[in-house]
Amino acid sequence: MQTGVATGTTSASTVAPANTHTAQRIGVPREIFPGEKRVATVPEVVGKLIKLGFSVCVESGAGDAANISDDAYRAAGATVENGAVALWGAADIVFKVRAPTMDEVALMHEGQALVSFIWPAQNPELLKALAERRVTVLAIDALPRTLSRAQKMDALTSQAGVAGYRAVIEAANAFGRFFNGQITAAGKVAPAKVFIAGAGVAGLAAIGTAASLGAIVRANDTRAEVADQVVSLGGEFVKVDYEEEGGGGGGYAKVMSEGFQQAQRAMYAKQAKEVDIIITTALIPGKPAPKLITAAMVESMKPGSVIVDMAAEQGGNCELTEPGQAVVKHGVTIVGYTDLVSRLSTQSSTLYANNLFRLSEELCKTKDGVINVNMEDDAIRGLTVTKEGAITWPAPAPKVAPAPAAAAKPAAAPAAKKGGHGGGDAEPMAGAKLAVLFGVSAVLFWLIGANAPKEFLSHFTVFVLACFVGYMVVWNVKPALHTPLMSVTNAISSIIAIGALVQISPIVGATGRPDEVIRWVAGAGIVLTSINMFGGFAVTQRMLAMFRK
Ligand code: NAI
Repeated sequence: MQTGVATGTTSASTVAPANTHTAQRIGVPREIFPGEKRVATVPEVVGKLIKLGFSVCVESGAGDAANISDDAYRAAGATVENGAVALWGAADIVFKVRAPTMDEVALMHEGQALVSFIWPAQNPELLKALAERRVTVLAIDALPRTLSRAQKMDALTSQAGVAGYRAVIEAANAFGRFFNGQITAAGKVAPAKVFIAGAGVAGLAAIGTAASLGAIVRANDTRAEVADQVVSLGGEFVKVDYEEEGGGGGGYAKVMSEGFQQAQRAMYAKQAKEVDIIITTALIPGKPAPKLITAAMVESMKPGSVIVDMAAEQGGNCELTEPGQAVVKHGVTIVGYTDLVSRLSTQSSTLYANNLFRLSEELCKTKDGVINVNMEDDAIRGLTVTKEGAITWPAPAPKVAPAPAAAAKPAAAPAAKKGGHGGGDAEPMAGAKLAVLFGVSAVLFWLIGANAPKEFLSHFTVFVLACFVGYMVVWNVKPALHTPLMSVTNAISSIIAIGALVQISPIVGATGRPDEVIRWVAGAGIVLTSINMFGGFAVTQRMLAMFRK
């Protein structure tokens, strides 16, 4: 009976290698879904997987559509298998992009593991077939995105980011003008105006890309909490003139009231008349895409305008979208491509391969080339949809609470968005709690002050003040900015250079002469701390520049 696995109560277990060697072999087949150009690993990642102890094989031609030759894989240390049968047969663990077809499932063998997009909610038959093959399947789309440590494995985010970027490039391709404003000898060119509907992962990537090309960017989302992120990427957040909270939990939206929808339609109709390009990304998971752009709005747009409807696959945000096609209606080009990620296959494959490598690190912490599907680990548990023949989907909610207060606190909102930085686990301490802490600390200080020697007391006071200032600084910085904060504090820590500067001045040693050894050590200290100081500030500057865009 596998019920223990299904409820997530079994402890860690190792997926046994199908071959006799201990280290497991990761196999990467060629994607067979029509138009799919991605591949699940790239040569740069092959080397890293080998360092984790695995061996890697790829199906001949797997990387062709992403401009990666068999030779490039070979040079990275992978072996190349001819044909799907050989590849699936040789692999202990299969890395894939698209969910396997039933033909591919038939190639799987007992004990094998598969990491791939699966969409278990939409594919119950596939899940059943996989369980019948007694294989262990990790659905990369089932990752608990609210866990901050899961970010590095979040393929939904990495792929949607690529799609958002590509949507802008498709818009630029179909649009007959520049994005940025220019003053040329031949005349003045006004910047293009871009409106983005839905500021989730893809929408934010589109905002950043359109703004970096010089367009005037506006965006709207039912979740008001994303307004700060829109502005930080160079866009303007356009509000709907109707008071209603749009957050549905976990960083996703909810279906809005009829009153809100009417007010939103009026605002979108106004934007449609003003802007040159509309990119729509609005979606609530599991629901058909909301129809935000009506035929009348399309008709009201200027001739030559462009709409890129990213939600085409879910029925489209625009009434006139034709999924998979670019069509011209009322003089407006409506792009409904459903393969935006594949249109940047080298980039999306690289990011996807990195996501899977990060997952491999989590699965193989011992670095011995054997994966351990640890059902006690929230991230791994969430991903595992079948384990050795038992269906383990859906997973119970992760034990770590997903920053619940963030929806109610707009200032902390960016951290609460799924896939957001830092996880938003840190909360400012409540006033009453802080008062108690201060009271207890004051009594402790009095006791120490009354009994400790004088020099200890002065050092101790400085130490306590430093802790207090550090606490106040760190807790008031958004989790998203913690990495630059760390680098700047690292740079500031180079203040110890002052100690070295004091030591470098001639010091008379026991011999009565300046102690040369101390001077040399102090000199080296100054050089090293200078590197730390200037390097730290330079890195911080670069990191902050990414947020200022
Ligand atoms: P997401 O869930 O991160 O973002 C969707 C956003 O839409 C959320 O911020 C949500 O609040 C907002 N939203 C929902 N209803 C709304 C409404 N009525 N009005 C305004 N905003 C609303 O999703 P993600 O990952 O950014 O993907 C966006 C869309 O792009 C999805 O439809 C996805 O399937 C599609 N996509 C398309 C690709 C393609 O090749 N065409 C590739 C990747 C994603």
